[in-house]
Amino acid sequence: MTAAPATPASHIRRIAVIALLVLGAIVLAGLVRSFVGTADYKTPAWAIWVHLATVVPALPLGAWLLWRQRKGDTAHRVGGRVWAMLMIVTAIDSFWIRTITGGIGPIHLFSVLTLVQVPRAIWFAKSGQIDRHLKTMRGVFFGLIAAGFFAMAPGRTLWALLFG
Ligand code: HEM
Repeated sequence: MTAAPATPASHIRRIAVIALLVLGAIVLAGLVRSFVGTADYKTPAWAIWVHLATVVPALPLGAWLLWRQRKGDTAHRVGGRVWAMLMIVTAIDSFWIRTITGGIGPIHLFSVLTLVQVPRAIWFAKSGQIDRHLKTMRGVFFGLIAAGFFAMAPGRTLWALLFG
């Protein structure tokens, strides 16, 4: 059996995978480092701003992707990739936000869930399981809405920012 010839697309894919692995390693190293001396941990302002910068565009983009009649066309695939990236960054960044309990708490389970569900949903689309793709993405989107709703609760950072 002979190996498939390398195409420009396969080169780009390989570079993208390597870049993602390097980025993942950097993020992991940063996260592990931030756990050292957790007793006096203070949520950095950048983490909140990154969080808001990803969730704010993710809300209308996600709604547009879900309610649009046409699915699977270029606009859906490009928009979907951007949305998936926004959700992944939201979830990863949230591990640096520890305002509520001072540590990694139960709310971070939603971040882990997002990190599992978004790649699963992409896999479903790629393998033609469109119904499961739709259901999983809907779940992630409603999670986003619910998280946004609870983020407005009195006492939380957003409440203080908006009404404080
Ligand atoms: C519109 C959507 C969202 C908004 C407006 C929002 C806003 C915020 C804000 C302002 C904080 C800072 C903590 C505080 O409120 O005191 C926060 C924390 C957090 N968010 Fe979000 N968020 C949203 C969506 C999400 C999503 C989709 C996830 C999960 C993937 C998530 C996971 C978290 C976690 C784990 C924290 C840290 C909680 C803690 O301090 O223990 N958020 N969010």
